[in-house]
Amino acid sequence: MLSIRNLDVEFHSDQSRVHAVKGISYELSEGQTLGIVGESGSGKSVSSLSILKLLPSTARVSGEVFWKGTDLIKETEAAMRLVRGAQIGYIFQNPLSALNPVFTVANQMVETICLHSDATKEEALEEAIELLDKVKIENPRKRIHDYPHQFSLGMCQRIMIAMTLSMKPDLLIADEPTASLDVTTQKEILELMDSLKEEYQMSMILISHDLGVVAERCDEVAVMYLGEIVEMGTPKDIFGSPKEAYTKILIDAIPKIRF
Ligand SMILES: Nc1ncnc2c1ncn2[C@@H]1O[C@H](COP(=O)(O)OP(=O)(O)O)[C@@H](O)[C@H]1O
Ligand SMILES: [Mg+2]
Repeated sequence: MLSIRNLDVEFHSDQSRVHAVKGISYELSEGQTLGIVGESGSGKSVSSLSILKLLPSTARVSGEVFWKGTDLIKETEAAMRLVRGAQIGYIFQNPLSALNPVFTVANQMVETICLHSDATKEEALEEAIELLDKVKIENPRKRIHDYPHQFSLGMCQRIMIAMTLSMKPDLLIADEPTASLDVTTQKEILELMDSLKEEYQMSMILISHDLGVVAERCDEVAVMYLGEIVEMGTPKDIFGSPKEAYTKILIDAIPKIRF
């Protein structure tokens, strides 16, 4: 359903050029989860944001991003607005960057739901409350009228997940969704995403710098290093016989329990 071919991204400014993504290719089939791992700065976010054309105008993007048969790289901004959210959802590392601090959660969720369906405001509010319940926000009927700053960071990420799910995307891109959270909350959010992926039958691209997080829940893993996919395979292949020295470093970086 998603086929990326020779995707290349370079940032140009007067002072510098950054070759952030160097001709990467991968495929994702329906219902599959692809993990993208690699250290900070390896091009995970830039390559994923280019799928939705969310990069600033300093980015020169080339290659092909086939989504359900059309090349998104060639699509207009108007066409992309129909793809973003409704077909491909994006969850950012920092939930606060995507929530508007001056509106209540109810305001933001109702607006999103109304924009993507023909629900009335009352119906949208009911749906939003149900979604908050699903992502395990306690007392959602009351809490939905609170502002983002009245929630913890972990709860804001749950709200973002609920908001993204309200658009019923076919593909969910989760860009280090737990990186800004403490370890216990990380685990809860990842478990929540596992169960929602199952329930909503979505495909998923899960981005993380932690190979351990990705290996547990992905059908395939792409290892990125300096803008390239240096290795790709099933978690079993990657762990069983890592071909690249860099992959071995990532494996060694996974915390092991010692007694
Ligand atoms: N808007 C931008 N302008 C210039 N360079 C950028 C921009 N965004 C990202 N980069 C650079 O592109 C490279 C890849 O970044 P990114 O995809 O964000 O890494 P990752 O998500 O793997 O941590 C890095 O060198 C980063 O500094
Ligand atoms: Mg990133």
